[in-house]
Amino acid sequence: MPTVIDGKAAAASVIANVQAATSQLAQSDALTPGIAVVIVGEDPASQVYVASKGKTAKACGFNSIQHTLPESTSEEELVALVEQLNADPEIHGILVQLPLPSHIDSGRIIQTIAPEKDVDGFHFTNVGRLGTGELDSAFVPCTPAGSMLLIERAHGRDLSGLNAVVVGRSNIVGKPMANLLLNANATVTIAHSRTKDLPALCRTADILVAAVGRPEMIRGEWIKPGATVIDVGINRIPAPEKGEGKSRLVGDVAYDEAAAVAGSITPVPGGVGPMTIALLMANTVVSAHRAANRTPPRF
Ligand code: GUN
Repeated sequence: MPTVIDGKAAAASVIANVQAATSQLAQSDALTPGIAVVIVGEDPASQVYVASKGKTAKACGFNSIQHTLPESTSEEELVALVEQLNADPEIHGILVQLPLPSHIDSGRIIQTIAPEKDVDGFHFTNVGRLGTGELDSAFVPCTPAGSMLLIERAHGRDLSGLNAVVVGRSNIVGKPMANLLLNANATVTIAHSRTKDLPALCRTADILVAAVGRPEMIRGEWIKPGATVIDVGINRIPAPEKGEGKSRLVGDVAYDEAAAVAGSITPVPGGVGPMTIALLMANTVVSAHRAANRTPPRF
């Protein structure tokens, strides 16, 4: 059987390091990391994510502020709020929860966030820093950064000689994931919906990262024996076996089939998911260290 990569335990260890770094910063600089989370509208999934981010931030010892704005908020009002947060010295991390209502240009909002407070890592400046390997000044998007920590647990920090395949080319996961793997010396291929013979390509992967958002698309026979499989997908599917109207969460990988072949694999839930919030906290405490001219902790 493969090693099941415990994302909950890994996330708890990241959060313990964030708490320690936060206490240290309070002692050395009388500084408390501050995070502002902005949510516009009533999307229920977003509300759950935002509540969880706020709760974890408080557990880390941060000042956590939530701005809840109505669906009718104009783009100009949101820009004004972001600019106010950019100028607030007590705020070190700004996160505007996506998706935004369709009348607001999310691209413009993301580019309004000051790069040094962009703990999501979505601003062009941070994308460029990651793309050029300037990781000491970048913020890396939380889901790929968390996935990378799980990969390091299996392989260490140097992936020389290993083939990595990332399935999915989103700006939030696929592209930054590929850059992180490349930076760690892996040989990286990004696959997507137009890729020819995806199963054969996946079988070349020593490290396979699935980030497509299609339930159980990646089958057991696509996995190279002994490979490390990182499943970023979180898909809710009907589960009539649990009762009428019930559902369950599955990843982008057919777990039981893949687990029979893989060397190590992340479960869904309990794999990459908990790491995303943990890395948001890590980025925020790093931001506070940078603001105080202190060397940030390394995660
Ligand atoms: N919505 C879903 N995932 C994310 C994320 O990582 N950051 C933000 N800002 N919104 C999201």
